[in-house]
Amino acid sequence: MESASKERGPMANAQQNGEIRFDPVTVLITGASSGIGAELARFYARSGRTLVLWGRDAARLERVARDCRTMGATVRTRVLDLADGHAAIASFREDDTDHPVDLLILAAGLGDMRQHAERTERAETVLELGLVNYATPAALATAGAERMVLRQRGHIVLLGSVAAFHALPFAAGYSGSKAGLTRFAEALRNGLAEYGVGVTLVSPGFVDTPMSRRVSSAKPFMQTAPQAARLIARAVEEERPHLIFPRLFAGLRILDIIMPRPIRDAIMRRLKADQAPRAAG
Ligand SMILES: NC(=O)c1ccc[n+]([C@@H]2O[C@H](COP(=O)([O-])OP(=O)(O)OC[C@H]3O[C@@H](n4cnc5c(N)ncnc54)[C@H](OP(=O)(O)O)[C@@H]3O)[C@@H](O)[C@H]2O)c1
Repeated sequence: MESASKERGPMANAQQNGEIRFDPVTVLITGASSGIGAELARFYARSGRTLVLWGRDAARLERVARDCRTMGATVRTRVLDLADGHAAIASFREDDTDHPVDLLILAAGLGDMRQHAERTERAETVLELGLVNYATPAALATAGAERMVLRQRGHIVLLGSVAAFHALPFAAGYSGSKAGLTRFAEALRNGLAEYGVGVTLVSPGFVDTPMSRRVSSAKPFMQTAPQAARLIARAVEEERPHLIFPRLFAGLRILDIIMPRPIRDAIMRRLKADQAPRAAG
C-alpha cells in the first residue's frame, strides 16, 4: 500500500544518512487562501524563506499572507482564477523568474457534485472541475518541471483525492478530474526521476475545510487542516511518491481494484451524498 510505501527518492536516502534536509528557499502554493493550502503556507512560513501564495479571494489570501509575514517569511501574493490555464502558466513563469521555486505545491481545487434532486451534474461545472482540478495543475506542474530540470533541484506536490480511486456516480466530474491528476502525477514522477526533481501525489480523505463542510454525508476519519499539512510536509521531506491518508482509504483503493465489476457497480450505485450550494464569490 502506497501510504506506507518504502519507495523513497535519493534525497530521502541521503537524509537517512544525516547528509541533507530538504530546506526550500522558495515555496509556491496554489490554493493558499483557504484550507489545506493556507495551513501549508503557515507550516512553511519562517525567516529566510520566500512564500509565493496564490489564491482567488484577495481578502482571504491577504490574511494568510499576514500570518506568514508575522512568522518571518517574505511573502508575495497573486490573485488569479486557475480556470484560465494560459494566465496561470504565464504567472508561474513570471514568479519563478523573480523567485526560483524549489517547492511547488498545487493545492488549489474545486469540490462539486450532483445535487440530490438533480439527475446529472451541470456540464459547465464539469468543465470547471476539469480545468481547476486537472488541466491547470498539470500544466503548472509541467511549467515548474521545465525550470526545475534546468536547475536540477526541486519538488512538486499535487493535491489529488481518494475520490480518484472510486467511480463516484454523483461526482463523476470531481472523481474524474482527480483520477486524471493522479495518473498525470505518476507519469510526471517517472519522467523526472533522472533529473533530480521529485513529485509527491497527495490523496486525502476528508479534511475539515470549507470544501468538506459543504458535503452533508458522513465524513469518516476526518482530519484537521493542520494535521493534513504536517502529513504532507513530512511526505515531501521523505520524498514519498504517494501519500494517502487516512490509511483506511489505501485499503479501500485496493478493494476497489480487486472487486468484481458487478459488485463494485452495485455498491457505487447505492452511495449517496449531497452538498450545500457554493458560497457566492
Ligand atoms: N477537504 C477535503 O476533504 C479534501 C479531500 C480530498 C482532497 N482535497 C483536495 O485538497 C485541496 C485543497 O482543498 P481544501 O479542502 O483546502 O479546500 P478549500 O478550503 O475549499 O480551498 C480550496 C482552495 O482552492 C482555491 N481555488 C478553488 N478554485 C479556484 C480557482 N478557480 N482559481 C484559483 N483558486 C481556486 C481556493 O481559492 P479561494 O478560496 O481564494 O477561492 C482555495 O484557496 C483541493 O485540491 C481538494 O480537491 C480536499
